[in-house]
Amino acid sequence: MSNIPSSQVAIQVLSFGDPVEGLEVQHDRPVEEPREGQVLVKMHLAALNPSDVFTVKGQYPGVRAVLEKRTGFVPGLEGCGTVVRTGPSVSLSVGTRVAVFLEQTAGTWQSFVTTEESQCFPVPEEMEDFVAAQLFVNPLSCLGMLRLILDSSPVQENPWIVQTAANSTLGRMFIQMSKGFQLKTINIIRTSIEKDALLKLGADIVISLDEETDVMKKVKEITSGLGVAAALDAVGGDIGTLALQLLGKNGLFIGYGRMSGEPIRVVNRQLMYHGITIRGFWLSSFLQGKSKTELVHSVIDLWSQKCFAPSVEAIYTLDDFRTALKSQFTPNRKGKILFRLN
Ligand SMILES: NC(=O)c1ccc[n+]([C@@H]2O[C@H](COP(=O)([O-])OP(=O)(O)OC[C@H]3O[C@@H](n4cnc5c(N)ncnc54)[C@H](OP(=O)(O)O)[C@@H]3O)[C@@H](O)[C@H]2O)c1
Repeated sequence: MSNIPSSQVAIQVLSFGDPVEGLEVQHDRPVEEPREGQVLVKMHLAALNPSDVFTVKGQYPGVRAVLEKRTGFVPGLEGCGTVVRTGPSVSLSVGTRVAVFLEQTAGTWQSFVTTEESQCFPVPEEMEDFVAAQLFVNPLSCLGMLRLILDSSPVQENPWIVQTAANSTLGRMFIQMSKGFQLKTINIIRTSIEKDALLKLGADIVISLDEETDVMKKVKEITSGLGVAAALDAVGGDIGTLALQLLGKNGLFIGYGRMSGEPIRVVNRQLMYHGITIRGFWLSSFLQGKSKTELVHSVIDLWSQKCFAPSVEAIYTLDDFRTALKSQFTPNRKGKILFRLN
């Protein structure tokens, strides 16, 4: 392949379990030729998402069984790069900058990705790489959960939504995106360090658990006694249980993450007298049967209209992946950890 090296740098998974010990950097991984319907993308940046960590830990349902059969698989659901070679029957041209969404097959944590053209989406010239590299997992999940809230919660009568892990990259996006739907957000965070940053992004209320002693009372006051119409929870445990208890009549609880690793506790009284609904959200299920191209265009439109702007904490090389993972587990980040691949 002219001007394209025959080998590249990649992170490969040697064993499931510990996300640091189970990984290694490989400097001589072969670059694969694109086959029919495939493109070769020279990667610029890739995102480090909590879901990548769960994949490496072997905690994603179905994923471990698939990936265990592929020795030395490369993690990474999403990233961005430039098409440098195309296989037969491909309509994307060489030189097109694309956002790459590999979903559960993973593999963006490497310098060159060979994949189906259907997993690559051209991005506007003015979209920075750091945006294109995280265009799917969190923005699509925000969009999916917003649709659920608008369809299945009493937001027409009560615009208040509570979210936990509000300082996460997704939480920050949700604060911004929900504005366009006239929703009001109450944002629960663990410590007050990033409180002002969230208010600046457009958060209506930020409640820091290290400052507020009676969250229930405060939320009752804010919502004029109604409670919230919907609760988004990425934590579970005590914090998720608190979010559940903040729901008003016919409220909707959406569990979409498990950062604490603990279950929520449900009191039958809430189910019986308040008519609440508890459900989950998983992007993979949400995408089933939908046009990814259409959804990605919706996200690009929202970004173009400045309805959200993803944030970045730091960018690391693949050689420095241990520091990147350490940073991922450090509290109070300001955004996503990315890998630089070129
Ligand atoms: N279900 C789905 O399809 C789907 C799709 C996308 C994302 N997600 C989930 O959405 C969440 C956010 O994703 P992201 O990419 O935005 O993550 P991120 O930027 O890495 O942020 C992680 C957040 O989790 C919080 N956190 C970590 N451990 C915690 C604990 N023990 N108790 C309370 N909070 C804790 C952190 O709080 P601090 O700010 O205080 O450090 C941080 O705000 C993750 O749980 C992810 O798995 C789910």
